[in-house]
Amino acid sequence: MNTLQINLPGREYKIDIGLNILDEQLLEPVLLSGTDHVVVVTNTVLQDLYPNCISKVLQESGVRVTTCVLPDGEAYKNLDTFSKIFDFLMKVSANRKTMLVAFGGGVIGDMAGFAAATFMRGIPFIQVPTTLLAHVDSSVGGKTAVNHPLGKNTIGSFKQPEYVCIELSFLKTLPFRELKAGYLELLKHGFIRDANLFEFIQGHTLKPLDFEFLEEAIFRSCAIKGRVVEQDETETGVRAILNFGHTLGHLIETHAGYGTYLHGEAVGAGMCFAAFVSWRWNELSEKDWKRICGYLRQILAPVILHSLDLELFRDLILHDKKAQKQAVNFIMLKKLGESFIQQDTSVEKLWDEFNQFTALYPEFVELR
Ligand code: NAD
Ligand code: GLY
Repeated sequence: MNTLQINLPGREYKIDIGLNILDEQLLEPVLLSGTDHVVVVTNTVLQDLYPNCISKVLQESGVRVTTCVLPDGEAYKNLDTFSKIFDFLMKVSANRKTMLVAFGGGVIGDMAGFAAATFMRGIPFIQVPTTLLAHVDSSVGGKTAVNHPLGKNTIGSFKQPEYVCIELSFLKTLPFRELKAGYLELLKHGFIRDANLFEFIQGHTLKPLDFEFLEEAIFRSCAIKGRVVEQDETETGVRAILNFGHTLGHLIETHAGYGTYLHGEAVGAGMCFAAFVSWRWNELSEKDWKRICGYLRQILAPVILHSLDLELFRDLILHDKKAQKQAVNFIMLKKLGESFIQQDTSVEKLWDEFNQFTALYPEFVELR
């Protein structure tokens, strides 16, 4: 098992990463919190695959455990589903000492975290992530949110968990497409901060699952994210580099309809586009661009976008039809392993580059 500490003053927490660790590790942080009621927030898929998984771990502890089961998928990451968590919490008489446990992928983690941030002005929560994407990214750092029909993750807050337990055995049941989506967020941390991590990842495949590789890769990935979050918890500056690939990624998810492309797939196409722009604007060398593009080409399937024009591109990127501002902070690469924030990047210039990108590389994004 590997352990990582996130050092945010007053909100420190531990992340344990390993195979078959949940039974041993989860009890202590729950008991230390002094709670007598845990509400597990999960979805129908996890509840079928791992029925009452968390309550079994806690059954000897004397802590009451109730389970709130939500419908599955990105399409349900919205205010309607979110309010069902509050209905449940009220029904089971949750109070300010109740602990939430998010048991699922990034969708469950983001919604349960947001519920923990807002129910009775804030209650504690623990992340037990079950997808590779949630292992390497969403369970760490405290961003929580739901989607609005016009913009991805536009309603949310920052709320750090009390503890994160990354149990690798859950990956055994994860569909391969979902594994690949998580792998893309893992690559993201290599692209933006650590060329050695990129090389390490390149040297291993996901099939069959190699838990030694995964434990180290997840540890290194969480460490990169953790150090950035420690510097800038609420994204007033450097944390924005974690959004590499997200400008186009979020546009793809919103425009194609939530759930059509997986978050990791959309970010993968977005990272390729951001690397392309970095190369075209003479920040990234041709050699690094070719390396990134060549590698992503082996992993990504094409994203198809219909009826996209400049006006819609701008609305989707700026999340606001009446926005005065016509520019975004765009994350670019200086080299493989080094990123920076290009402040006030013109949306029109990005649109021009996007047209070049789709014309030259329809295998990544095709406009129809
Ligand atoms: P997800 O939560 O939808 O999970 C993917 C699918 O796998 C779902 O159908 C789920 O039910 C299923 N599943 C989960 N664990 C499983 C398991 N062990 N075995 C079998 N099936 C399993 O998607 P995701 O990729 O985990 O997360 C994507 C979400 O995370 C997006 O909404 C994205 O915005 C968010 N996100 C948040 C952050 C953050 O910092 N908060 C970072 C990255 C992504
Ligand atoms: N996934 C981007 C962030 O956590 O800031």
